[in-house]
Amino acid sequence: MEILSLKKVVFMMVITITLVNMAKSELHYVGGDKFSWKPDVNFTEWSSHEHFHLGDWLYFGYERHLYNVLEVNKTSYENCIDTGFIYNISRGAGRDVFQLTEFKTYYFLSGGGHCWHGMKVAILVSEGVVAPTLAPSPQVHAPAPSPKSYTPALSPKSNSNGIQVNKIFFAFIFILIWGISSNN
Ligand SMILES: *[C@@H]1O[C@H](CO)[C@@H](O)[C@H](O)[C@H]1NC(C)=O
Ligand SMILES: *[C@@H]1O[C@H](CO)[C@@H](O)[C@H](O)[C@H]1NC(C)=O
Ligand SMILES: *[C@@H]1O[C@H](CO)[C@@H](O)[C@H](O)[C@H]1NC(C)=O
Repeated sequence: MEILSLKKVVFMMVITITLVNMAKSELHYVGGDKFSWKPDVNFTEWSSHEHFHLGDWLYFGYERHLYNVLEVNKTSYENCIDTGFIYNISRGAGRDVFQLTEFKTYYFLSGGGHCWHGMKVAILVSEGVVAPTLAPSPQVHAPAPSPKSYTPALSPKSNSNGIQVNKIFFAFIFILIWGISSNN
């Protein structure tokens, strides 16, 4: 059996990780189900059990005549200010989706005073791999840096690196099998 060239391995890895990442974008039902953007749900509790990756989607399902979804800044989130929002996510049907495209903390609330009854949520996007800046995995190069990841100011309770490392590991196994079989 031929030994794989390093170049080939790295190239296949980048491709694979990009594909894995694209395929992995998840949909998160805000509050836990399809109709749980409503008062008296503890969204802090809910979000603490979720892992938000770059490219993932949020789904807000709610009573369209009563509530809405606005992206606001941190100050507005903390003080339930619904004027001067960043982005109005509501489209009118009570079923809105929003894609997380940046490594940052997003803040959402409902206008109409419902924020005071708990209708607000902070979403920290701290996971995911930025494909173009990928470094080769440690299995290829001895001491290689791990892929770029965002170090959040507000650090999540759970171990976010676990998932990222798993992803890389599976991607690596995948390309190894691919590479070996295409060399035979
Ligand atoms: C919501 O859950 C968080 C985390 O479990 C907790 O710290 C907080 O007190 C809860 N808030 C309310 C209003 O119950
Ligand atoms: C946040 O948004 C509010 C409302 O538009 C605005 O008054 C405030 O200056 C903003 N704060 C920051 C830090 O951008
Ligand atoms: C947000 O956009 C929807 C749909 O265009 C509109 O009906 C609604 O009034 C807007 N909400 C705010 C607070 O601007």
